[in-house]
Parts: sequence; structure tokens; C-alpha cells
Amino acid sequence: MTGVAIAQLSKHVGETVELRGWLYNKRASKKLQFLEVRDGSGIVQCVVASQDAPEAFESASRLSQECALVVRGVVSRHPKHEGVYELAVTELEELSPSEGYPISPKDHGTDFLMDHRHLWIRSRRQHAILRVRHTIVRAIRDFFDARDFTLIDAPIFTPNACEGTSTLFETDFHGQPAFLTQSGQLYMEAAAAAFGKVYCFGPTFRAEKSKTRRHLAEFWMVEPEVAFMDLAGDMELAEEFLAHVVQRVLTERSAELQLLERDTGPLQRVKPPFPRLTYTDAIQLLCDHGKDARFGDDFGAEHETIISSAFDRPMIVHRYPAELKAFYMKRDPENSALALCMDVLAPEGYGEVIGGGQREDDLTLLERALALHQLDKSAFEWYLDLRRYGSFPHAGFGLGVERLVAWLCGLPHVRETIPFPRMLTRLSP
Ligand code: 4AD
Ligand code: MG
Repeated sequence: MTGVAIAQLSKHVGETVELRGWLYNKRASKKLQFLEVRDGSGIVQCVVASQDAPEAFESASRLSQECALVVRGVVSRHPKHEGVYELAVTELEELSPSEGYPISPKDHGTDFLMDHRHLWIRSRRQHAILRVRHTIVRAIRDFFDARDFTLIDAPIFTPNACEGTSTLFETDFHGQPAFLTQSGQLYMEAAAAAFGKVYCFGPTFRAEKSKTRRHLAEFWMVEPEVAFMDLAGDMELAEEFLAHVVQRVLTERSAELQLLERDTGPLQRVKPPFPRLTYTDAIQLLCDHGKDARFGDDFGAEHETIISSAFDRPMIVHRYPAELKAFYMKRDPENSALALCMDVLAPEGYGEVIGGGQREDDLTLLERALALHQLDKSAFEWYLDLRRYGSFPHAGFGLGVERLVAWLCGLPHVRETIPFPRMLTRLSP
């Protein structure tokens, strides 16, 4: 008998099938045992009746949580719940035991669960979150692939600091200092000159020194870059992109969102156009809400929450003071104190999920910006070449996948949004 995936049981009603998996949970009465069996594709209740399958009943009583097993039985529809199936067990075989499985169905503290992340990912909630993540990743790729962007992978070892020198992970590259990439952007700018519309999608690294709900040391970022696109085009691309991904999650992962008890009302409203606010108007909005905010202040999580709470969908803050932002930002020709940049802030207190903007395409201004940021010009010679040989207006952005997963799943912290999180105080498992 070949094995059937639990997710496919609807196609086998009335048939005898074999399931291979692990015992998720069990409860028993005198004559019946109810085994919740999981196989990665789903969880199904398997009913073992002492009268119909005495041997299986006997073995079932000895099974412990997370033992590996094979069950055979007849598939039926759940008498009350639509779309739910059950198995009336005829045979049962334990493949390997699981004595003293550390994660019991009772509550555990987060540190304990994080220490057992390798086992915790078997649980229902974690499963739902990581499936939403998978759908997000697929929707991201589909969005850009359908629009004729070329995927260009950026390197992980780099000689350059892209996002400032304070969050660099330094490593030794055959005797030469190297950094783990903070962003693939600079390489995407080179790729945009070669292919027009490009994106990279991979892990990026930041030695964030503070513990927050939204910072990881290793996170996944998708970064599109487009030749001859300006800031206005960048904002349009970002809102279409975000709306596409959110809609895909709503249609393909409604069961998971329900399990996570996510109120999908706010997600249904994620449709373009997103409201736009200049940084200067955002400062005014903060002042109107009683905050002591001044031009030149950077926005922390609390500021972003106040700003984004004024809107019922994601919104865009654009034209921040150039001095708050990275060296590569193009200055606003109307006011050179401002950068042609934008952040997309998610509602419900989630804050920045996308950062991007138009890049400086003037060689002299870019050289000046490197000096101003005290960056070693020699490491950026290749990047300056892009301004020496056919410089062109271009723009792009980066979206952090974990922040998007946290927002769409309604999670308070990014630590559960990536299979094995790397944070200030966590390198294991
Ligand atoms: O705003 P950031 O730093 O922008 C860049 O890196 C640009 N080079 C991107 C580009 O234009 N190609 O980061 C972009 C996004 C943030 O909006 C956030 O979603 C995420 O990356 N991010 C983090 N996510 C988790 N942990 C961290 N430590 C993060 N830092 C940034
Ligand atoms: Mg940013």
C-alpha cells in the first residue's frame, strides 16, 4: 500500500489508506483512542476502536507524543465539520519512539521554545506561519517574473558597506577583511544597467546591537531595481507589489490566517493607491498628536506607529532629510536637504516594511556623498564606474520578508517569522 498525504484525504473517502507521520496529540476513553497524526501536509484525527482493532488499540495506548508511526485505515468525512476527514484505524505500527518529547501541549516560555526551535517548528501555529512565509516568497517571485524582471543574485561576501558602517558583520576573506552583505542594492544598480529591470532575493545581515521586535541579524530581503524609473515610479511599483503579495496570501492561506486568529479586515484594504505623506508633513502630524518632533529627527517604532495609525492601509513617507539616509540617495532637485527616498509603513503598528528610493546618478555628487559618510572610496570604484559609463536615472527598494510575515500573520515579534532566527542573543539551534 502506498502512502497518502493527509492533505489529499478528500480524494480517498471510503478507501483504505496508509499514512506515515508522527503522533501530534492523543486522548482516550475506555473504548476509543483519538490519535492526532501529522505528516507535514496536515493533521488528521485517527480513531482507534478497541472493538474493531484490538491490536491497534493496544499499541496506541503505548504511543507517546511525536513518535514516528504508520497508520492504516478507512477515510471518512467528519460528521459535523465540512472539509475535515477522519481515519477509522485498522492497523497501527510505531516506527520509532519519542520518549520525553520536551514540548508538551501546555504553555512554555518563549526562550524555552526558541531553544527548541528545531522541534517547535512541528507545531500547528509555527507551521501556519512558515506556510504563509512560503506563499509570500512565491508571490514575490511571481510578481517580478510576470513583469519581466530578471533575477540577478547578489553576493553575500562584499567589500562595501551599503547601509552604514555601524551594523556590519566583518569576516575574514582569505586574509582580506570582508563584510556579510547588508543589501544587494549596489549590485542591482550594476545589474539594472545591464538588464533594465532586475531583482535579487536572498539573506542579508545586520549586526543590530539592540533587541527589538522587528530586527534580526539575518533576514531575507527582495530588492528590485529599475533603469529610468524615478521616485514616483518607485512608489507605484512598491504599492502594486505589496498589494499583489497580500492578496495572494489572503486567497491561498486563509486557513492558516484563521488558525492564527488574524483579523483579515485590515489586509483586505491593502489596495493601491497608498496614501503618501512627505517627511515634513509627517513631522507636522506627529506634532499634531502631541509629540515633540522636529525636522531632522529620525522615526522610531513609536513615531511610525503614530503616523501609520492615521491611515487605514499601508502608507508611504517620502523625502526624508538626506542626512538621515544612506550615501547613495539622490537629492531632491527642489530642496537639496531632502533625499528622493521613501518608506512604506504598514498599519496596525507594524511600521516600515519597505525602504527605497531614487539613486544618485551624478558622479561628482556621489563622490561627495561618499566623503561625507566617511566611506573608503577605493572600495566603491566599481560602483562609481556605473556613473562614469552611461549613468542613468534609476530607483528601487528593499522589502524585508520577516516584517511582512509578522504583519500578515499578526505576530508581535519577527522571531517566529523565519525558520531559524538569528538575533543579538541567539545563534542556536
Ligand atoms: O531600509 P533598508 O535598510 O534599505 C535597504 O537596505 C536598501 N538598500 C534597499 C534598497 O533600496 N534596495 O532595509 C529595507 C527593508 C526594511 O524596510 C525592513 O523591512 C528590512 O529591510 N529590514 C530588516 N528586517 C529585519 N531585521 C532587520 N535588522 C532589518 N533591517 C532592515
Ligand atoms: Mg529603512
